[in-house]
Amino acid sequence: MNKYILNLSRYLIILLASFFVISCSNDSAEGPYIIKFPHVTAPATPKGQAAQRFKELAEERFPGRVIVEVYPSSQLMNDDDSLEALAFGEIQMIAVSLSKFDRLTNAFQVFDLPFLFPNLQTIEKFQASPAGQSLLDELTDRGFKGLNFWHNGMKIFTATRALNEPGDASGLNFRIMESDVLQAQVQAIGGNPQKMALGEVYQALQTGAIDAQENTWANIYSAKFFEVQEFIMETNHGYVGYLVAVNPSFWNQLPEDLRIGLEQVMDEVSEWGNMRSEIINQEGKENVLEENRNQIIYPSSSQLALWQETMQPVWEEFADQIGTERLEAAKNINN
Ligand code: SIN
Repeated sequence: MNKYILNLSRYLIILLASFFVISCSNDSAEGPYIIKFPHVTAPATPKGQAAQRFKELAEERFPGRVIVEVYPSSQLMNDDDSLEALAFGEIQMIAVSLSKFDRLTNAFQVFDLPFLFPNLQTIEKFQASPAGQSLLDELTDRGFKGLNFWHNGMKIFTATRALNEPGDASGLNFRIMESDVLQAQVQAIGGNPQKMALGEVYQALQTGAIDAQENTWANIYSAKFFEVQEFIMETNHGYVGYLVAVNPSFWNQLPEDLRIGLEQVMDEVSEWGNMRSEIINQEGKENVLEENRNQIIYPSSSQLALWQETMQPVWEEFADQIGTERLEAAKNINN
């Protein structure tokens, strides 16, 4: 089906679903309110730890009034399904990679542009700016109220062969998240992009259905991709981060003190988690190095410049979709 018809029908379904969400979310106005919070990474990852901390603090501050059920490691559903389930009120909270909102908005594509942000500090600055904060409300009328951004970390490549330069990627099948920018990025380096859920990647790498992927050290370690990929290239060419979102109809019908209290907990947890994300990725890297199974390639500055130059046309290709003002705000964030 044409992408736009598909998106339109999904949009209509989500709109309809948001009318029914209150009746599905809780039986009693007194609570306890159940917040089902599925996600796809392991408990030890930046997202896994932050989700668990949100549960602990929320239940401690509001005993008997709220229960947060965290389902890590795609136990309950994958990210694609969780986007629909949130809109339908089957679950109450998500933290889905910004890349995977691509079917709902072009605005988040700014986070996927290769080499746009050099590090997490710059991304955090952009997310805190007016242009970044406006993205929290980007999808509210479609059933996704953004509460905060959570970091995972910077992306690096893994592959079955050494990727010293972009030309080495030619002809390889790359798993990517569900994002058209990432698709264009892989095409720019001569690879074949394949959109795939995180939970399917290990087996696809193991069987040779795909040859390469991009992810953070924390995900590469916890999802064991290092077991089935010989080469790891520390390119830091992109970002994995999340929009933590709730269904606005569910959220707005919570008693005011509880809603405001949970938003405070979320702010505290976001600050805590975002400060720890770099450390957790560093630990992931050390764990991979300790396993001693991989050849790690640290690209030189001239090699990195070549990667950047080869991927650069992607910025131009998506500038109009992203919005020139938003893109300029991101580019100028360090000025
Ligand atoms: C995530 O970190 O939640 C997902 C990343 C991926 O799908 O590669």
